[in-house]
Amino acid sequence: MRIAVYGASGYQAGLVLAELIRRGAEPVLVGRDDARLRQAATRAGMAGAERRVAATDDHRGLVAALRDCAAVLNCAGPFTLSGHAVIRAAIAAGCQYVDTAGEQFYLRTVFDTFAAPAGRAGVTVVPAANDACVPVDLLARLLAEAVRPVEEMVVSHFIAGGGAPSRGSLRSLAATIDVIRTGGLTYEGGDWRTGVPPRRTSVTLPGASEPTEVTRFPLAEVVTIPRHVPVRRVESLAEAGLTAGLSAPLPPEVVDALPEGPDEEERRGQRFSYLVDAVGADGRQLRGIVRGSDTYGSTAVIAVEAARRLVADGARPGVLAPAQAFDPRDFLACLAPHGIGWRIGGADG
Ligand SMILES: NC(=O)c1ccc[n+]([C@@H]2O[C@H](COP(=O)([O-])OP(=O)(O)OC[C@H]3O[C@@H](n4cnc5c(N)ncnc54)[C@H](OP(=O)(O)O)[C@@H]3O)[C@@H](O)[C@H]2O)c1
Repeated sequence: MRIAVYGASGYQAGLVLAELIRRGAEPVLVGRDDARLRQAATRAGMAGAERRVAATDDHRGLVAALRDCAAVLNCAGPFTLSGHAVIRAAIAAGCQYVDTAGEQFYLRTVFDTFAAPAGRAGVTVVPAANDACVPVDLLARLLAEAVRPVEEMVVSHFIAGGGAPSRGSLRSLAATIDVIRTGGLTYEGGDWRTGVPPRRTSVTLPGASEPTEVTRFPLAEVVTIPRHVPVRRVESLAEAGLTAGLSAPLPPEVVDALPEGPDEEERRGQRFSYLVDAVGADGRQLRGIVRGSDTYGSTAVIAVEAARRLVADGARPGVLAPAQAFDPRDFLACLAPHGIGWRIGGADG
C-alpha cells in the first residue's frame, strides 16, 4: 500500500513513517525541501525510500506527487496555513486524505469547503486523525447510542507529563492563538458559535477526591461530534493549567531553538485522559473515558490505521468525522495493543 506522507521531514511525520514501515506499507516522502526529506528518510532507516518535492503553492506539482498514491497522510502543520492546498491536491489526484490537525477552525473550514468536491471526486477526507479526535469522536458515537436522545456532550482533555509540546504543535498554537484565547466554538442549537460561556468550570476525574479546574479550549471534537450525533450542545474544555500555559505563545525564535519534540522517554511517561460527559434529554448522565500515553506516538498509530482503513475498506466519499468513516468498536479495539483503553460508566466514569 503506497501512502504519501506530506510534511515528511517533521517530528510527527517521523513517528508516522516508523509506523507505516511497521505496518508493511510503502511510504513516499513528500515535502517542500529535498534535503530535509533526505535527512528524514535516513533517520527513519529508509534512505532508499522515494522522495517527491512539492510546495503547497505548486498545485500541479503537488497533484503529480500524490497521483499514484492510495492515500496521503498530511503532517504539515500549521494546517490553518497550508492544509487546504494539500486537500485540494489529494482530491484532484483521487487520493484518500487524512491529517493530524488539531486546529478547530481549520477543521470547520475543511467540512465547509471540501465536502462537495471530495464527494464528486470519490475521495474520502478524514481530518484530525489524531490521538484525541479519533477515539473521542468514536466514543461519543457509542455514548449517543446508550443515551438517546442526547441533550449535551462535554469533552474535556487532561494531559500529564510528556515534556514540552513539539515545535510544530507550538507553531500551530501560535497560528491559532486568538481562537485559543477566546475558547473557540461551542455547538448549540444547530450551529457553531463563538463566545458561549462554559457550563462547567470544574470536572472530577474518576478516582479523584477533588474536582479539577477547567476552561474552554478549542478542541476538534466540537466540530466532528455534531456531524453524526443528534445533540443540542457540545462544548470542549481542558485543564485550566494547560490552557493558561498555551495561551501565551513563545516567540518564533525561541520555538526554533527548542528540541523538535519530546524524546522517547518523555513520551512514554506521559498520560492522557479524554472524557466525554453525556447528558440525556431525560437528565440521565453517562461518562466515556479514553486513556493512554504518548500523544504523538498514539497519533502515528491512529493516523496510519485511519489511512489504511480508507484504502483497504473504503468509506463514503466526502469529508467525514471519524465515526462516519470507521466502525467505533472495531477501531477502538485495534488501539488496545497500543495502550489506548476506553470505557463507558456512570456519571463519574
Ligand atoms: N492532538 C493533536 O491535535 C495533534 C497531535 C499530534 C500532532 N498534531 C499536529 O501535527 C502537526 C505536525 O507537528 P510536528 O511536531 O510534526 O511539526 P514539525 O516538526 O514542525 O513539522 C512540520 C512539517 O510540515 C512542513 N511544513 C510546515 N509548513 C509547511 C508549508 N507551509 N508548506 C509545506 N510544508 C510545510 C515542515 O516542512 P519543513 O521541514 O520543510 O519545514 C515539516 O515537514 C502540528 O500541527 C501539530 O499540532 C496535532
